[in-house]
Amino acid sequence: MIDVEELKRRFRECYPEAGEAFVCRAPGRVNLIGEHMDYNGLPVLPMAIAQEIRIAFAPRTDGVITMQNVDPNYPRVRFENSDDIERSGAGSWENYCKAAVQSLNRNLEKTSFPGMDLLITADLPVAAGLSSSSALVVACALAYLGVLDQTLGRDVSRLELADMMARAEQYVGTRGGGMDQTVILNGEAGHACKIDFFPIRVELAPVPDDYAIVVCDSLVKVEKSGAALARFNAGPWACRLACGLIEQQAREEFGDEVELKRLGDLWFGPLCLTHDEARGLCERAIPKETMTLAEVCARLGQTEEMVRRRYIDTMQEPEGGFPLQRRLRHQLTEFKRVETARDALQAGDAEEMGRLMNASHASCADDFGISSRELDALVAAARESGAVGSRLTGAGFGGATVNLVPLEKVEAFIAGVTASYYHDFLKHAGEPPIFVAEARSGADYY
Ligand code: GLA
Repeated sequence: MIDVEELKRRFRECYPEAGEAFVCRAPGRVNLIGEHMDYNGLPVLPMAIAQEIRIAFAPRTDGVITMQNVDPNYPRVRFENSDDIERSGAGSWENYCKAAVQSLNRNLEKTSFPGMDLLITADLPVAAGLSSSSALVVACALAYLGVLDQTLGRDVSRLELADMMARAEQYVGTRGGGMDQTVILNGEAGHACKIDFFPIRVELAPVPDDYAIVVCDSLVKVEKSGAALARFNAGPWACRLACGLIEQQAREEFGDEVELKRLGDLWFGPLCLTHDEARGLCERAIPKETMTLAEVCARLGQTEEMVRRRYIDTMQEPEGGFPLQRRLRHQLTEFKRVETARDALQAGDAEEMGRLMNASHASCADDFGISSRELDALVAAARESGAVGSRLTGAGFGGATVNLVPLEKVEAFIAGVTASYYHDFLKHAGEPPIFVAEARSGADYY
């Protein structure tokens, strides 16, 4: 990783006209448990890690924003700052910066739009499920706050900024929630963050010190805002559809005024249901494995066009209908697992944490449909090599797994996973992309 002084030196080389550069950082994150829950307003349990994005930045007076990466694979880009910044094509990396700047302009009600020069570097792998995209959004936000002379924690709180940036990221087209931005801004050394949403709340839980959190990259890339966009959004869309059907059922049972904005409202909204009550209502709302679009439309008394506009956008109807019951089962069971996992961490019970991680992987794979052959193989190799818990982490379909490994077994674990997954399964000859993740503090300035 390029150190701060060297980054400043390269900045001067890259932007000889610019004034003195400042440097900010935003870490990646690994989610220990609670997958595809955040956008439904249900809790998650991630931690911020040591790998991070660093940006050297300095203001410009002409309203132009330029971005350059130390890695020459990223094109140098420039765009005008304004009250309505035009989005670049899907998958373009500048969209993450545009998202951050646009959001701050609007939330801080800016009427003038300064420019800035950015030089970016990272040791955080891209498209590996470690939230490099949200780290870039948050790092750009910190740079822009610096240019605006706004102080993080005084003019804008960390929770406020997390909320803004979570909404901002929808600018790139993904329908994710606020987990990544929140932990990236609020992480604490040695701790995972149990996060609740709407409004965002953070509770710290210590990571066990006699176990390592080991991250293994499956080497299957997931460009969440590019090729994998529709696959990622299928999760949020299915949950929205399920929520619409549950709202319909709830209105019939409790009265027409019931409104469910998201699944989490079953517990945290005006209904305030217990787990058992929520499960019962879900079972009555979605009584069978799958529902066709025609059946959903009939149940909701809406046309296909209305259902698409309100819930599922362009989502394709799978053959045999939407597997809503399984998608919902993941939400109900994962919610409980996150709460139990927080208790396990508080109690220092790593074995229990491991069991919950294993159960979470099964639920992600069988019920939520976000695993893959590679991730399943990597998880199996990890358990055989000494992990007490192993699961996919992040959006799914590829990216990384997170593994809880007793400290004294880490070496054997790495050797075992290298042999069985990277060598035998993938036929990958290079260095195994495995690292021990340290829980670190959130984004800041150097
Ligand atoms: C992505 C999204 C997050 C979250 C995870 C899945 O990382 O950005 O908001 O939905 O997927 O848990």
